[in-house]
Amino acid sequence: MSSEGAVRSVAIDGPAGAGKSTLARALADHLGLDRLDTGAMYRSVAWSALRRGVDLAHDDEVAALARGLTIEITAGAADTVTVDGVDATAAIRTPAVDACVSLVAANPAVRAELVARQRAWVAAHGGGVVEGRDIGTVVMPDAQLKVYLTASSDVRAGRRAAERGDDGVSEVAAALDRRDSLDSSRPVSPLPDPAAAPGVIVVDSTGKSADEVLKEVLSWL
Ligand code: DC
Repeated sequence: MSSEGAVRSVAIDGPAGAGKSTLARALADHLGLDRLDTGAMYRSVAWSALRRGVDLAHDDEVAALARGLTIEITAGAADTVTVDGVDATAAIRTPAVDACVSLVAANPAVRAELVARQRAWVAAHGGGVVEGRDIGTVVMPDAQLKVYLTASSDVRAGRRAAERGDDGVSEVAAALDRRDSLDSSRPVSPLPDPAAAPGVIVVDSTGKSADEVLKEVLSWL
C-alpha cells in the first residue's frame, strides 16, 4: 500500500459508535487532510424535515427539501453544522433525529443528492478523510485507504451513551442495534456492504484506545 506521505484520500465506514469520528479526526490530523462527516449531512436533512413538518414517508418532498438545503459543516475541535444559515450543531444529534434519520438515509433521491455533494467536496479538497456508511463503496471507491471500523454492540452503545451524557446504556444499545439493522439490511436501496469493499481494512476497536486504533490503521500504510 501507499506510504503515509502519499495518502490523500481515506474512506472510513462502520456502524454508529464504532469510533469513526475519533479515528477520522486522528487520521486527518496525522496526514494533514481535511475531514467530512457525511452522517451530519443525512442528519441535517432529517432535522430540517422535522422542523418544517415534511412527512418523511413522502419521498419526493423529502428529496426536494434535501436538494434545496444549504448545509455547511465546519470541521474543527468540535464540528459545527449550519442548515440554511441556522446553527443545527446540537439539534442534529438529538434522539428525535436519531429516531428518523434512517428513513431519510433510505431515500434514494436524498442519497443521490448527498453523494453528489460529497464527491464535489472530495474534488474541491483534493481528497480528504471522509466518514460514513458508503464511502469506500459509493462515494470514494478509489480511496487510497479504506477502513471498516467496528466494535461490539455493548462498546458502541457505551460510547454513544457517554457522548450524550446518558446512563441508559441498554436502551441506547437497543436503539443503536435497531438503527444499524435499518441502515444495513433495509429492503429499499440497501447499501453495499462496506466491509466487503475491495482493499478495505477491517478494524475492530473493541477494547482498544483511540491511539491503538490509529496505530493499527497506520501500520497498514
Ligand atoms: O454516522 P451517523 O450516526 O451520524 O449517521 C446518521 C445516519 O445516516 C445513520 O442512520 C446512517 C446514515 N448514513 C448513511 O446512510 N450514509 C452515510 N454515508 C452516512 C450516514
